[in-house]
Amino acid sequence: MKTTVSLTVNGEACEGDVESRTLLVHFLREQLGLTGTHVGCVVGECGACSVLVDGTLVKSCLMLAVQAHERDVTTIEGLATDGTLHPVQEAFVNGFALQCGFCTPGFVMAAHALLTRNPDPTEEEIRHDLSSNLCMCTGYVQIVEAVKHVAERRRQ
Ligand code: FES
Ligand code: FES
Repeated sequence: MKTTVSLTVNGEACEGDVESRTLLVHFLREQLGLTGTHVGCVVGECGACSVLVDGTLVKSCLMLAVQAHERDVTTIEGLATDGTLHPVQEAFVNGFALQCGFCTPGFVMAAHALLTRNPDPTEEEIRHDLSSNLCMCTGYVQIVEAVKHVAERRRQ
């Protein structure tokens, strides 16, 4: 049996029929076509599926689509505006904070959530918050530097 969920995704009203067991990440990717949210471990370890739900960072493999009913979801596709990268995305590109890019949407969402909550984080706070996400190829130095760079630019 399917249930209809209505929610806002990246500022737009969306609706879909889902099984009660459908994960939010699968709903976003397969029904809404928002494939920027990646599927990694599906057990809440890697952070590749990170999105914002009502402004809070959530691993969308740990949330059912039905739990997103009447909520406000932001995915990586919702960050850029009019073809201009979000400052966090720009900093990742300019700072070489990615290699294969599989983990990148999740890291960008986690960094965006951190900087929204705390515009001037210490390196320790950045490392603490980003510990929710795993990268197998970049190494974390460039990622942390990219987040610091965004915070510095916002202070100018
Ligand atoms: S796919 Fe969700 S945390 Fe890894
Ligand atoms: S850039 Fe390849 S997993 Fe992070």
